Amino acid sequence: MCGIVGAVAQRDITPILLQGLKRLEYRGYDSCGVAVHSDGELRRARSTQRVAELESQVQREHLSGFTGIAHTRWATHGAPATHNAHPHFSGQGKGVARIALVHNGIIENYEELRTELQAVGYVFESQTDTEVIAHLIDHLYGGDLFEAVQQATRRLNGAYAIAVFCRDEPHRVVGARHGSPLVVGRGKNENFLASDALALAGTTDQIIYLEDGDIVDLQLARVWIVDVDGHSVEREVHTVHIHTGAAELGPYRHYMQKEIFEQPRAVGDTLQAIESITPELFGDGAYKVFKNIDNLLILACGTSYYAGLTARYWIESIAKIPVNVEIASEYRYRDSVPNPRTLVVTISQSGETADTLAALKHARGLGMENTLTICNVATSAMVRECKLSYITRAGVEIGVASTKAFTTQLTALFLLTLALAQANGRLSDEEEAEQLKALRHLPVAIGAVLALEPQIMAWADRFATKENALFLGRGMHYPIALEGALKLKEISYIHAEAYPAGELKHGPLALVTEHMPVVTIAPRDGLLEKLKSNMQEVHARGGELYVFADADTKIGSSDGIHVIRMPEHYGKLSPILHTIPLQLLAYHTACARGTDVDKPRNLAKSVTVE
Ligand code: M6R
Repeated sequence: MCGIVGAVAQRDITPILLQGLKRLEYRGYDSCGVAVHSDGELRRARSTQRVAELESQVQREHLSGFTGIAHTRWATHGAPATHNAHPHFSGQGKGVARIALVHNGIIENYEELRTELQAVGYVFESQTDTEVIAHLIDHLYGGDLFEAVQQATRRLNGAYAIAVFCRDEPHRVVGARHGSPLVVGRGKNENFLASDALALAGTTDQIIYLEDGDIVDLQLARVWIVDVDGHSVEREVHTVHIHTGAAELGPYRHYMQKEIFEQPRAVGDTLQAIESITPELFGDGAYKVFKNIDNLLILACGTSYYAGLTARYWIESIAKIPVNVEIASEYRYRDSVPNPRTLVVTISQSGETADTLAALKHARGLGMENTLTICNVATSAMVRECKLSYITRAGVEIGVASTKAFTTQLTALFLLTLALAQANGRLSDEEEAEQLKALRHLPVAIGAVLALEPQIMAWADRFATKENALFLGRGMHYPIALEGALKLKEISYIHAEAYPAGELKHGPLALVTEHMPVVTIAPRDGLLEKLKSNMQEVHARGGELYVFADADTKIGSSDGIHVIRMPEHYGKLSPILHTIPLQLLAYHTACARGTDVDKPRNLAKSVTVE
């Protein structure tokens, strides 16, 4: 979602702030801005273009300073316009700006606060919920910024991470978090704030993860943290080595393309050098947990939710444990019947998705204490909040559309399936050896599917002229159809829906005409003959079928049926392989339509608001 960077130093910090914004830009890119303390006054530059444009503006306007904050925005309240871009100032009414503030999250009681502040003379320049925080802090300011922030945060309902500084205290930045991530980066006689340690890579690797309710006072040689109860606390300093190599595009046109082609490596790394299946791959004590559960509850959003849906097929069929998969944002608000013997599994690339974190806390609040996360960020809130974890090794994913994160999640979930089966006596040594062999061969198998790219590009040119598409799958490939449709709509803006193929005749078949492309996932599995009948139903209505068929399915191309052959059938792991062509189809269709593939409109990489 939005990104925050802040700094107090004895050198010009604008390059650090801008570098940090560039690293966070993929998370939200509706607008960006930077504010610095410069010769006794607050100065800022804001832009509705990309950070590179902001950088030119900063240079043109000779903006520099030793203390400052910066922000990249994903709009919630107010359009993506300059006047809504952060940093927001307060105090102009009294002559010159006194408070500068950036914010991630949503303030739920902003209307009430706005009315209150207007009544005492504050004039609002923006439609944002953020501006109320700036004015509230200014209103409460009595010479000590930290105290003003402490008082102000007591009045805020909702989720926030903020960074704020004051004209009258030139070497101080105050940060606070509640429900949105914020880290401190420690330096020598300089200190930093960021919504993600990635922003500070190359500046410092000494990172403190603030906890909910923390307020931090950042000065040149001091970092002072006060917790939710107002007590001074020490938080552990972690040495975090962040690999920024992901920022290099290499020979690829977009990060998404690069990340699609990284999948053999990412899946291989996620498997590590696993010699045998053991529950302890998921953390100490996993065996005892896995042995004593009645069922699983998987909580996730978006692509991660589809990974969970796929895992349900695996877990129920191999480990024979019942699984519920729920969209996190729905689960957290519905009345459900908890069972303390449930293993709650969250799946998240970022580990910071607000809805998934809140759903996890909700489940724990209902007495379900066995928690496990499949996550791509070892230092994320999700990993810290769960008892057990498995870290996928996708590496940093920059493209907003999830690709390598998804296939590595599936890989980890398959390992989880085997570990659950083993703990419950449902995995023989032979089966274990066979499944491990198939897993180890995955990187090569994915590589062979990637070689289909030229054929898929030819299809993409035709797709680019369409405005609607249907995706069909059956069984464990139905979630893959959902993922394929999400990829296509997310980056090409073509309206796409996915259905279990058997469901088509119950309604969606009415949409099928010669103008409707119908993408079909056709693995050689027990449902193939049923699927072929469903394809005939489409064909008979003039629909144009685009089929990804396993080599030995005997589905041939004919008028209105286009077939790309997958190199090999891959048994239970087939959903992982069938994901790859759908990613490539979405990617090349988006390229043909000329959209901003890595930063699709209205979206953000990490969704840290609910
Ligand atoms: O970081 P998470 O995995 O928790 O994110 C969940 C979704 O926001 C994410 O998968 C989203 O659907 C992707 N952009 C889809 O490509």
